[in-house]
Amino acid sequence: MTTPAVTHLTGRADPAERTVVLAFGTRPEATKMAPVYRALQATPGLRPLILSTGQQRQMLDAALNVFSLTPDRDLNVMTDRQTLADLTARIVPQAGRTLREMGADMVLVHGDTSTSFCVALSAFYEGIPVGHVEAGLRSGDLREPFPEEANRRLTGVLSTLDFAPTPGSRENLRREGKGDHGLFVTGQTAVDAVREVAGRVPLRSEWQARVDAGQPLVTVTMHRRENQPMMREMAQALARVARAHPDHHFIYPVHLSPAVQEAVRPALGHLPNFELTEPLDYSDMAPLMAASRLLATDSGGLQEEGAALGVPVAVLRNVTERPEGVEAGVLKLAGNDPAQLEAVLNDLLDSEPTLAAMRAARNPYGDGQAARRIAQAVAWHFGLQDRPADWE
Ligand code: UD1
Repeated sequence: MTTPAVTHLTGRADPAERTVVLAFGTRPEATKMAPVYRALQATPGLRPLILSTGQQRQMLDAALNVFSLTPDRDLNVMTDRQTLADLTARIVPQAGRTLREMGADMVLVHGDTSTSFCVALSAFYEGIPVGHVEAGLRSGDLREPFPEEANRRLTGVLSTLDFAPTPGSRENLRREGKGDHGLFVTGQTAVDAVREVAGRVPLRSEWQARVDAGQPLVTVTMHRRENQPMMREMAQALARVARAHPDHHFIYPVHLSPAVQEAVRPALGHLPNFELTEPLDYSDMAPLMAASRLLATDSGGLQEEGAALGVPVAVLRNVTERPEGVEAGVLKLAGNDPAQLEAVLNDLLDSEPTLAAMRAARNPYGDGQAARRIAQAVAWHFGLQDRPADWE
Protein backbone atom coordinates (compact mmCIF):
# COMPACT_ATOMS: atom_id res chain seq x y z
CA MET A 1 0.00 0.00 0.00
CA THR A 2 1.35 3.45 -0.91
CA THR A 3 1.30 6.25 1.60
CA PRO A 4 -0.52 9.33 0.29
CA ALA A 5 1.65 12.46 -0.01
CA VAL A 6 1.11 14.92 2.81
CA THR A 7 -0.23 18.06 1.21
CA HIS A 8 -1.80 19.94 4.11
CA LEU A 9 0.06 22.99 5.28
CA THR A 10 1.07 21.86 8.73
CA GLY A 11 3.24 19.06 7.31
CA ARG A 12 5.81 18.69 4.57
CA ALA A 13 5.33 16.67 1.40
CA ASP A 14 8.95 15.61 1.78
CA PRO A 15 10.51 16.00 5.24
CA ALA A 16 13.89 16.75 3.66
CA GLU A 17 12.49 19.76 1.80
CA ARG A 18 12.81 23.24 3.26
CA THR A 19 9.64 25.32 3.27
CA VAL A 20 10.21 28.88 2.08
CA VAL A 21 7.18 31.11 2.50
CA LEU A 22 6.88 34.17 0.27
CA ALA A 23 4.77 36.72 2.16
CA PHE A 24 3.21 39.70 0.41
CA GLY A 25 0.04 41.74 0.28
CA THR A 26 0.23 44.47 -2.36
CA ARG A 27 0.20 44.44 -6.13
CA PRO A 28 3.85 45.38 -6.75
CA GLU A 29 5.11 42.80 -4.28
CA ALA A 30 3.16 40.05 -6.07
CA THR A 31 4.57 41.13 -9.43
CA LYS A 32 8.15 41.23 -8.19
CA MET A 33 7.90 38.02 -6.14
CA ALA A 34 6.29 35.93 -8.91
CA PRO A 35 9.66 35.23 -10.62
CA VAL A 36 11.16 34.33 -7.22
CA TYR A 37 8.36 31.83 -6.56
CA ARG A 38 9.00 30.16 -9.91
CA ALA A 39 12.78 30.04 -9.34
CA LEU A 40 12.29 28.47 -5.89
CA GLN A 41 9.90 25.92 -7.40
CA ALA A 42 12.64 24.93 -9.84
CA THR A 43 15.25 24.48 -7.07
CA PRO A 44 15.59 20.92 -5.71
CA GLY A 45 15.09 20.70 -1.95
CA LEU A 46 13.00 23.88 -1.64
CA ARG A 47 9.23 24.06 -1.28
CA PRO A 48 7.80 27.56 -1.82
CA LEU A 49 4.44 28.53 -0.31
CA ILE A 50 2.61 31.85 -0.48
CA LEU A 51 1.21 33.77 2.48
CA SER A 52 -0.95 36.71 1.41
CA THR A 53 -1.83 39.37 3.93
CA GLY A 54 -4.49 40.70 1.55
CA GLN A 55 -3.36 44.28 2.27
CA GLN A 56 -4.74 45.28 -1.15
CA ARG A 57 -7.63 42.92 -1.82
CA GLN A 58 -8.61 43.73 -5.42
CA MET A 59 -5.26 44.93 -6.72
CA LEU A 60 -3.38 41.99 -5.21
CA ASP A 61 -5.84 39.43 -6.54
CA ALA A 62 -5.56 40.87 -10.04
CA ALA A 63 -1.75 40.62 -9.87
CA LEU A 64 -1.90 37.04 -8.60
CA ASN A 65 -4.12 36.11 -11.56
CA VAL A 66 -1.69 37.45 -14.13
CA PHE A 67 1.05 35.18 -12.81
CA SER A 68 -1.31 32.26 -12.02
CA LEU A 69 -0.34 32.30 -8.34
CA THR A 70 -2.65 31.09 -5.56
CA PRO A 71 -1.90 31.94 -1.94
CA ASP A 72 -1.68 28.95 0.40
CA ARG A 73 -2.92 31.13 3.27
CA ASP A 74 -4.57 34.56 3.25
CA LEU A 75 -4.89 36.86 6.28
CA ASN A 76 -7.39 39.11 4.44
CA VAL A 77 -6.51 42.16 6.53
CA MET A 78 -7.70 44.98 4.24
CA THR A 79 -10.30 47.41 5.58
CA ASP A 80 -11.79 50.50 3.96
CA ARG A 81 -9.56 53.58 4.40
CA GLN A 82 -7.14 51.51 6.44
CA THR A 83 -4.48 53.35 8.40
CA LEU A 84 -0.91 52.20 8.81
CA ALA A 85 -1.71 51.40 12.44
CA ASP A 86 -4.72 49.28 11.36
CA LEU A 87 -2.49 47.25 9.06
CA THR A 88 0.18 46.78 11.71
CA ALA A 89 -2.31 45.77 14.39
CA ARG A 90 -3.88 43.18 12.08
CA ILE A 91 -0.78 41.66 10.47
CA VAL A 92 1.70 41.32 13.35
CA PRO A 93 -0.37 39.03 15.63
CA GLN A 94 -1.45 36.72 12.80
CA ALA A 95 1.58 36.43 10.54
CA GLY A 96 4.05 34.62 12.82
CA ARG A 97 1.46 32.11 14.00
CA THR A 98 0.44 31.39 10.43
CA LEU A 99 4.06 30.98 9.31
CA ARG A 100 4.47 28.38 12.09
CA GLU A 101 1.35 26.54 10.93
CA MET A 102 2.74 26.55 7.38
CA GLY A 103 5.98 24.93 8.62
CA ALA A 104 8.09 27.86 7.44
CA ASP A 105 11.85 27.33 7.60
CA MET A 106 12.30 30.82 6.18
CA VAL A 107 10.10 33.69 5.07
CA LEU A 108 10.89 35.99 2.16
CA VAL A 109 9.47 39.51 2.26
CA HIS A 110 9.82 42.19 -0.38
CA GLY A 111 10.82 45.83 -0.32
CA ASP A 112 9.16 48.34 1.94
CA THR A 113 5.42 47.88 2.44
CA SER A 114 3.65 47.59 5.76
CA THR A 115 3.13 43.92 4.93
CA SER A 116 6.89 43.43 4.54
CA PHE A 117 7.89 45.05 7.80
CA CYS A 118 5.04 43.57 9.86
CA VAL A 119 5.61 40.03 8.57
CA ALA A 120 9.36 40.37 9.17
CA LEU A 121 8.73 41.53 12.74
CA SER A 122 6.25 38.75 13.44
CA ALA A 123 8.60 36.12 11.92
CA PHE A 124 11.45 37.48 14.04
CA TYR A 125 9.32 37.05 17.17
CA GLU A 126 8.75 33.42 16.13
CA GLY A 127 12.46 32.78 15.47
CA ILE A 128 11.88 32.25 11.75
CA PRO A 129 14.71 33.62 9.55
CA VAL A 130 13.79 36.42 7.17
CA GLY A 131 15.13 36.92 3.65
CA HIS A 132 14.68 40.45 2.30
CA VAL A 133 14.18 40.79 -1.45
CA GLU A 134 14.90 44.30 -2.81
CA ALA A 135 17.01 45.08 0.25
CA GLY A 136 19.12 48.16 0.87
CA LEU A 137 17.23 50.85 -1.06
CA ARG A 138 17.52 54.17 0.76
CA SER A 139 16.29 57.66 -0.07
CA GLY A 140 18.02 59.01 3.03
CA ASP A 141 14.83 60.83 4.07
CA LEU A 142 12.48 59.13 6.53
CA ARG A 143 9.56 61.26 5.30
CA GLU A 144 9.93 60.36 1.63
CA PRO A 145 8.69 57.89 0.68
CA PHE A 146 6.55 57.66 3.81
CA PRO A 147 6.39 55.21 5.53
CA GLU A 148 8.37 53.04 3.11
CA GLU A 149 11.82 54.40 3.96
CA ALA A 150 11.23 53.37 7.59
CA ASN A 151 9.74 50.02 6.61
CA ARG A 152 12.76 49.00 4.57
CA ARG A 153 15.27 50.14 7.16
CA LEU A 154 13.41 48.30 9.92
CA THR A 155 13.13 45.14 7.81
CA GLY A 156 16.88 45.29 7.22
CA VAL A 157 17.48 45.17 10.97
CA LEU A 158 15.54 41.90 11.18
CA SER A 159 16.74 40.03 8.09
CA THR A 160 19.22 37.14 7.86
CA LEU A 161 19.59 37.16 4.07
CA ASP A 162 19.56 40.39 2.06
CA PHE A 163 19.09 40.45 -1.69
CA ALA A 164 20.32 43.84 -2.86
CA PRO A 165 19.33 44.68 -6.44
CA THR A 166 22.44 46.80 -7.13
CA PRO A 167 25.97 47.28 -5.75
CA GLY A 168 24.76 50.67 -4.44
CA SER A 169 22.04 49.09 -2.33
CA ARG A 170 24.62 46.61 -0.96
CA GLU A 171 26.82 49.57 0.03
CA ASN A 172 23.90 51.13 1.91
CA LEU A 173 23.56 47.94 3.95
CA ARG A 174 27.29 47.66 4.59
CA ARG A 175 27.27 51.24 5.85
CA GLU A 176 24.57 50.24 8.31
CA GLY A 177 26.78 47.45 9.61
CA LYS A 178 25.51 44.44 7.65
CA GLY A 179 28.24 41.86 7.14
CA ASP A 180 28.80 40.25 3.73
CA HIS A 181 27.87 36.72 4.81
CA GLY A 182 24.18 36.83 3.92
CA LEU A 183 24.37 39.83 1.56
CA PHE A 184 24.01 39.31 -2.19
CA VAL A 185 23.77 41.55 -5.24
CA THR A 186 21.12 39.87 -7.38
CA GLY A 187 19.63 42.46 -9.74
CA GLN A 188 16.02 43.60 -9.58
CA THR A 189 13.30 40.97 -9.98
CA ALA A 190 11.13 43.67 -11.63
CA VAL A 191 13.42 43.34 -14.64
CA ASP A 192 12.74 39.59 -14.78
CA ALA A 193 8.98 40.24 -14.53
CA VAL A 194 8.57 43.14 -16.95
CA ARG A 195 10.65 41.55 -19.70
CA GLU A 196 8.73 38.31 -19.43
CA VAL A 197 5.29 39.94 -19.59
CA ALA A 198 6.04 42.76 -22.06
CA GLY A 199 7.61 40.15 -24.36
CA ARG A 200 4.60 37.85 -24.44
CA VAL A 201 1.53 40.12 -24.22
CA PRO A 202 0.54 42.59 -26.98
CA LEU A 203 -0.51 46.19 -26.34
CA ARG A 204 -4.28 46.70 -26.01
CA SER A 205 -5.68 47.21 -29.50
CA GLU A 206 -7.13 50.69 -28.84
CA TRP A 207 -3.73 51.95 -27.68
CA GLN A 208 -1.95 50.17 -30.52
CA ALA A 209 -4.25 52.00 -32.95
CA ARG A 210 -3.11 55.33 -31.48
CA VAL A 211 0.56 54.35 -31.78
CA ASP A 212 -0.05 53.23 -35.37
CA ALA A 213 -1.65 56.62 -36.06
CA GLY A 214 1.49 58.37 -34.77
CA GLN A 215 -0.01 59.51 -31.45
CA PRO A 216 2.58 59.24 -28.64
CA LEU A 217 1.46 57.68 -25.34
CA VAL A 218 2.37 58.98 -21.89
CA THR A 219 1.73 56.70 -18.92
CA VAL A 220 1.05 58.42 -15.59
CA THR A 221 0.74 57.01 -12.07
CA MET A 222 0.59 58.83 -8.76
CA HIS A 223 -0.42 57.39 -5.40
CA ARG A 224 2.21 58.04 -2.70
CA ARG A 225 0.96 58.95 0.75
CA GLU A 226 3.44 61.83 1.11
CA ASN A 227 2.16 63.28 -2.21
CA GLN A 228 -1.51 63.06 -1.24
CA PRO A 229 -1.75 66.49 0.48
CA MET A 230 -0.83 68.20 -2.85
CA MET A 231 -2.12 65.55 -5.24
CA ARG A 232 -5.00 67.72 -6.46
CA GLU A 233 -2.56 70.49 -7.44
CA MET A 234 -0.18 67.94 -8.98
CA ALA A 235 -3.08 66.57 -11.04
CA GLN A 236 -3.99 70.10 -12.15
CA ALA A 237 -0.38 70.56 -13.30
CA LEU A 238 -0.64 67.31 -15.27
CA ALA A 239 -3.82 68.66 -16.85
CA ARG A 240 -1.93 71.75 -18.04
CA VAL A 241 0.81 69.52 -19.53
CA ALA A 242 -1.84 67.51 -21.37
CA ARG A 243 -3.49 70.69 -22.70
CA ALA A 244 -0.09 71.87 -23.94
CA HIS A 245 0.38 68.56 -25.79
CA PRO A 246 -2.94 67.79 -27.51
CA ASP A 247 -1.17 65.44 -29.94
CA HIS A 248 -0.20 63.11 -27.02
CA HIS A 249 -2.52 60.61 -25.33
CA PHE A 250 -2.09 60.37 -21.54
CA ILE A 251 -3.17 57.17 -19.76
CA TYR A 252 -3.47 57.12 -15.96
CA PRO A 253 -4.55 53.92 -14.19
CA VAL A 254 -5.83 55.42 -10.95
CA HIS A 255 -5.01 53.61 -7.70
CA LEU A 256 -8.10 52.38 -5.80
CA SER A 257 -7.21 54.38 -2.70
CA PRO A 258 -10.15 56.75 -2.03
CA ALA A 259 -7.69 59.54 -1.17
CA VAL A 260 -6.11 59.23 -4.63
CA GLN A 261 -9.41 58.88 -6.50
CA GLU A 262 -10.85 61.97 -4.82
CA ALA A 263 -7.78 64.10 -5.65
CA VAL A 264 -7.28 63.00 -9.22
CA ARG A 265 -10.65 62.44 -10.90
CA PRO A 266 -11.97 66.03 -10.61
CA ALA A 267 -8.78 67.51 -12.10
CA LEU A 268 -8.26 65.07 -14.95
CA GLY A 269 -11.57 63.34 -15.62
CA HIS A 270 -12.84 65.72 -18.32
CA LEU A 271 -9.81 66.15 -20.64
CA PRO A 272 -10.10 64.68 -24.15
CA ASN A 273 -6.51 63.39 -24.21
CA PHE A 274 -6.35 62.15 -20.58
CA GLU A 275 -7.69 58.63 -20.15
CA LEU A 276 -8.32 57.63 -16.54
CA THR A 277 -8.61 53.87 -16.16
CA GLU A 278 -9.12 51.39 -13.36
CA PRO A 279 -5.84 49.89 -12.07
CA LEU A 280 -4.45 47.84 -14.94
CA ASP A 281 -3.42 44.22 -14.78
CA TYR A 282 0.30 43.82 -15.27
CA SER A 283 -0.45 42.13 -18.59
CA ASP A 284 -1.84 45.48 -19.81
CA MET A 285 0.56 47.68 -17.85
CA ALA A 286 3.82 46.11 -19.04
CA PRO A 287 3.13 46.51 -22.79
CA LEU A 288 1.68 49.99 -22.15
CA MET A 289 4.89 51.10 -20.43
CA ALA A 290 6.97 49.55 -23.21
CA ALA A 291 4.98 51.49 -25.85
CA SER A 292 5.09 54.85 -24.03
CA ARG A 293 7.15 57.88 -24.99
CA LEU A 294 7.41 58.86 -21.33
CA LEU A 295 6.40 57.55 -17.90
CA ALA A 296 5.48 60.15 -15.27
CA THR A 297 5.23 58.48 -11.90
CA ASP A 298 5.80 58.58 -8.15
CA SER A 299 5.96 54.77 -8.00
CA GLY A 300 9.13 52.89 -7.15
CA GLY A 301 8.63 49.94 -9.48
CA LEU A 302 7.95 52.01 -12.59
CA GLN A 303 11.38 53.58 -12.25
CA GLU A 304 13.00 50.17 -12.64
CA GLU A 305 10.56 48.99 -15.26
CA GLY A 306 11.16 52.10 -17.38
CA ALA A 307 14.91 51.56 -17.08
CA ALA A 308 14.59 47.89 -18.03
CA LEU A 309 12.44 48.72 -21.06
CA GLY A 310 14.50 51.74 -22.15
CA VAL A 311 11.57 54.15 -21.60
CA PRO A 312 12.33 57.58 -20.06
CA VAL A 313 10.84 58.21 -16.61
CA ALA A 314 9.97 61.54 -14.97
CA VAL A 315 9.92 60.81 -11.22
CA LEU A 316 7.26 62.84 -9.38
CA ARG A 317 9.23 62.97 -6.14
CA ASN A 318 11.97 65.10 -4.62
CA VAL A 319 14.27 62.19 -3.76
CA THR A 320 14.54 58.66 -5.02
CA GLU A 321 15.91 55.49 -3.46
CA ARG A 322 16.78 54.41 -7.02
CA PRO A 323 19.65 56.82 -7.79
CA GLU A 324 21.32 54.43 -10.24
CA GLY A 325 18.68 55.26 -12.86
CA VAL A 326 19.22 59.00 -12.39
CA GLU A 327 22.99 58.51 -12.73
CA ALA A 328 22.54 56.31 -15.82
CA GLY A 329 20.29 59.01 -17.32
CA VAL A 330 17.01 57.12 -17.82
CA LEU A 331 15.29 58.73 -14.78
CA LYS A 332 14.80 62.44 -14.21
CA LEU A 333 13.63 63.80 -10.87
CA ALA A 334 10.70 66.16 -11.53
CA GLY A 335 9.79 66.75 -7.87
CA ASN A 336 6.28 67.06 -6.47
CA ASP A 337 5.98 70.84 -6.69
CA PRO A 338 3.22 71.43 -9.27
CA ALA A 339 4.91 74.29 -11.15
CA GLN A 340 8.23 72.48 -11.23
CA LEU A 341 6.84 69.16 -12.43
CA GLU A 342 4.85 70.96 -15.11
CA ALA A 343 8.02 72.65 -16.38
CA VAL A 344 10.06 69.41 -16.32
CA LEU A 345 7.38 67.41 -18.15
CA ASN A 346 6.90 70.14 -20.76
CA ASP A 347 10.66 70.31 -21.34
CA LEU A 348 10.93 66.56 -21.77
CA LEU A 349 7.97 66.22 -24.12
CA ASP A 350 9.25 69.15 -26.21
CA SER A 351 12.78 67.79 -26.56
CA GLU A 352 13.10 64.61 -28.59
CA PRO A 353 16.95 64.67 -28.32
CA THR A 354 16.67 64.60 -24.50
CA LEU A 355 14.24 61.69 -24.59
CA ALA A 356 16.42 59.86 -27.13
CA ALA A 357 19.44 60.22 -24.83
CA MET A 358 17.39 58.90 -21.88
CA ARG A 359 16.24 55.93 -23.98
CA ALA A 360 19.86 55.09 -24.82
CA ALA A 361 20.91 54.94 -21.16
CA ARG A 362 22.23 51.70 -19.71
CA ASN A 363 19.81 49.75 -17.50
CA PRO A 364 21.45 49.60 -14.04
CA TYR A 365 18.90 47.24 -12.47
CA GLY A 366 20.15 43.85 -13.59
CA ASP A 367 20.07 41.25 -16.32
CA GLY A 368 16.72 39.55 -15.67
CA GLN A 369 18.35 36.72 -13.65
CA ALA A 370 17.67 38.11 -10.17
CA ALA A 371 15.12 35.46 -9.16
CA ARG A 372 17.46 32.61 -10.07
CA ARG A 373 20.24 34.14 -7.95
CA ILE A 374 17.88 34.57 -4.99
CA ALA A 375 16.79 30.92 -5.19
CA GLN A 376 20.44 29.82 -5.31
CA ALA A 377 21.28 31.93 -2.27
CA VAL A 378 18.36 30.43 -0.33
CA ALA A 379 19.54 26.92 -1.30
CA TRP A 380 23.07 27.86 -0.16
CA HIS A 381 21.66 29.08 3.18
CA PHE A 382 20.14 25.64 3.76
CA GLY A 383 23.35 23.85 2.76
CA LEU A 384 21.81 22.52 -0.43
CA GLN A 385 24.51 23.97 -2.69
CA ASP A 386 27.88 25.71 -2.56
CA ARG A 387 28.22 29.43 -2.79
CA PRO A 388 28.94 29.88 -6.53
CA ALA A 389 32.26 31.57 -7.19
CA ASP A 390 30.79 34.29 -9.42
CA TRP A 391 28.49 35.64 -6.70
CA GLU A 392 29.15 39.18 -5.63
C1 UD1 B 1 0.98 50.49 -0.46
C2 UD1 B 1 2.46 50.51 -0.08
C3 UD1 B 1 3.25 51.27 -1.14
C4 UD1 B 1 3.00 50.70 -2.53
C5 UD1 B 1 1.50 50.65 -2.79
C6 UD1 B 1 1.21 49.95 -4.10
C7 UD1 B 1 2.60 50.57 2.38
C8 UD1 B 1 2.89 51.41 3.57
N1 UD1 B 1 2.65 51.20 1.20
O1 UD1 B 1 0.57 51.84 -0.40
O2 UD1 B 1 4.63 51.18 -0.85
O3 UD1 B 1 3.63 51.51 -3.48
O4 UD1 B 1 0.86 49.93 -1.76
O5 UD1 B 1 -0.16 49.95 -4.38
O6 UD1 B 1 2.39 49.39 2.51
N2 UD1 B 1 -7.38 49.87 -1.54
C9 UD1 B 1 -8.52 49.28 -2.01
N3 UD1 B 1 -8.39 48.20 -2.85
C10 UD1 B 1 -7.17 47.73 -3.27
C11 UD1 B 1 -6.01 48.37 -2.80
C12 UD1 B 1 -6.13 49.44 -1.92
O7 UD1 B 1 -9.62 49.67 -1.68
O8 UD1 B 1 -7.12 46.77 -4.03
C13 UD1 B 1 -7.49 50.98 -0.56
C14 UD1 B 1 -7.19 50.51 0.86
O9 UD1 B 1 -8.34 50.12 1.56
C15 UD1 B 1 -6.59 51.75 1.48
C16 UD1 B 1 -5.98 52.51 0.32
O10 UD1 B 1 -6.48 51.94 -0.87
O11 UD1 B 1 -7.58 52.53 2.07
C17 UD1 B 1 -4.47 52.49 0.33
O12 UD1 B 1 -3.96 51.15 0.22
P1 UD1 B 1 -2.71 50.67 1.15
O13 UD1 B 1 -2.25 49.33 0.70
O14 UD1 B 1 -3.04 50.83 2.60
O15 UD1 B 1 -1.57 51.74 0.87
P2 UD1 B 1 -0.95 52.33 -0.46
O16 UD1 B 1 -0.93 53.79 -0.29
O17 UD1 B 1 -1.56 51.73 -1.67
